Amino acid sequence: MKSKLQQLNALNRLMSSCAACTLRSGCSRVVFGSGNPTAKIMFIGEAPGKKEDELGIPFVGSSGRILDAMLASINVPREDVYLTNVCKCRPPENRDPLPEEIAQCWPWLEKQIKIIDPKIIVTLGKYALNSFLPDAKISQVHGQLINIDIKKIGKINLFPLHHPAAARINRKTRALFEADFQKIPQLLEKIKKES
Ligand code: URA
Repeated sequence: MKSKLQQLNALNRLMSSCAACTLRSGCSRVVFGSGNPTAKIMFIGEAPGKKEDELGIPFVGSSGRILDAMLASINVPREDVYLTNVCKCRPPENRDPLPEEIAQCWPWLEKQIKIIDPKIIVTLGKYALNSFLPDAKISQVHGQLINIDIKKIGKINLFPLHHPAAARINRKTRALFEADFQKIPQLLEKIKKES
């Protein structure tokens, strides 16, 4: 049986030649994901930005700095979690990913989730949330633990948060984002007890 790291590396190799949508031809590289292959928490954002596209690592720009600060505030090292995006290739000029681009990338994310099998999936922003729950409104469901059954993945604990970029530009969103983030340690504890 291959380790989770070996399985992720194999998936990464396959993904690096993906040409399912047009994003790949306009970006520098596929930004697969980074972190602990056996992570209990998986964070899923929107798509790589300029810095992520340059370095091939998710959340290394301004949103990443906010995320790092929040992880530090709950004493969780970045190396303990897994970070990725619903779209693995940078959209031109950092535009929002299109529904068809997200849909083409979904099977890759599905496979990553199945390998990592995290206890909690934290979605960051509406694009990640709506990939799992198409009709959910981030303003209504942020900060709530939602148990869902996803085709080909199975039962997951979804914890939707606002996107760090939204938290950066809006003071009220920042306060909500910070308060929601502080719930993560208790949620992990609760899930650990239940399993
Ligand atoms: N960087 C990422 O990797 N994802 C985002 O959603 C934003 C910035």
